[in-house]
Amino acid sequence: DDLTRVIRHYPASAPEGPTPTTPLPPAELELMEQGAGVAAIGNIDAPSCASCHGPGLDQTKPGFPRISGQPRPYLAQQLKLWRDGTRGGGPRKELMEKAARNLSDAEIDALALYYSQLPAE
Ligand code: HEC
Repeated sequence: DDLTRVIRHYPASAPEGPTPTTPLPPAELELMEQGAGVAAIGNIDAPSCASCHGPGLDQTKPGFPRISGQPRPYLAQQLKLWRDGTRGGGPRKELMEKAARNLSDAEIDALALYYSQLPAE
């Protein structure tokens, strides 16, 4: 019937949130979903992570690094360094300092998992 056709049209995972590139235990899947939520909202000083880093963007602009698929510990470390104002960077590093300024450790953990599990675009 119509409903079955509609359901078949969409990948089974769509309503559940982002799809990890490696199998994750349920607790981590939930954390990844939280990361997707944090990535979708910005703060008073900066637009959302997703608006600059995707997913779903043509990430070929020079100076705007691709972060999808990079290792989770690396991503978390960079975000902590920016939040704490101790990371160097290129000419646009102030964008990241603003974006990371108010992140909690838990949000950083969720963001790092989320982006590490997205396919490198
Ligand atoms: C306004 C655009 C913008 C927003 C919003 C933004 N970023 Fe960035 N991001 C950049 C730019 C530009 C760089 C490169 C900065 C540099 O190296 O000087 C960068 C670098 C990074 C890096 C380092 C990548 C590498 O290869 O070392 C990470 C990780 C990162 N961003 C994650 C995030 C996360 C997570 C958020 C949301 C909290 C976010 N960014 C929000 C523009 C943005």
